[in-house]
Amino acid sequence: MIDLQADADPGDDPWVLVADWLPADDDPERPQAVLATAGTDGYPDARTVLVSAADRTGFAFHTHRSSRKVTEIAVLPRAALVLTWPGFTRQLVVRGDAVPDTEASAARVWAARSDHLRRLAWLNDDDLAARDRAGRVAGWAADVRTDGGSPPAPSWVGFRVAPVELTFWAGGADTASRRLQYRRGQAGWTRRWLAG
Ligand SMILES: Cc1cc2nc3c(=O)[nH]c(=O)nc-3n(C[C@H](O)[C@H](O)[C@H](O)COP(=O)(O)O)c2cc1C
Repeated sequence: MIDLQADADPGDDPWVLVADWLPADDDPERPQAVLATAGTDGYPDARTVLVSAADRTGFAFHTHRSSRKVTEIAVLPRAALVLTWPGFTRQLVVRGDAVPDTEASAARVWAARSDHLRRLAWLNDDDLAARDRAGRVAGWAADVRTDGGSPPAPSWVGFRVAPVELTFWAGGADTASRRLQYRRGQAGWTRRWLAG
């Protein structure tokens, strides 16, 4: 793991750090992130999502087409993601443009999701949520395809947060925390150290 408290130069390319800090896309243990969007009422909005994949095109998450985040992104296609690691060790804050994920990527992520998460994509709507417990258990037993070879549920949609800024935070046991911030400009990435 690239340690931002060590003296080794972390380099000019933030994606090297991303690849080092995040699990590979085929790792079934997906990192959690808080996804922030601009609420249509002017208040910031936020919720936790799984980061389905990450590469130079951005950080992917997948969700329900009729969810509030999707409405908000349609109005203002910008978002932030905050990933944290256990203890006061590491944090990554990503700010950028929310762009549609490719169909190929969405299909790959669908195939890699657990049966439980695929069932959620099919069935988890406000109607089910408002039923009593017996109704929710009965609704959950509906006959839907949850195998990895099944086509994605119609509700399934993905976005990538394509960063304009990535800020890597490193805690310190014997010194202060600090951040390495990369900003995307005309000529590529620039970086600077910031207080944590
Ligand atoms: C640990 C965790 C992971 C979650 N992952 C996702 C996810 O990958 N996609 C998703 O749509 N919702 C996920 N959720 C549910 C969201 O946090 C949220 O409740 C839901 O997407 C509705 O959000 P919205 O109404 O703000 O759009 C997750 C919740 C938790 C607690």
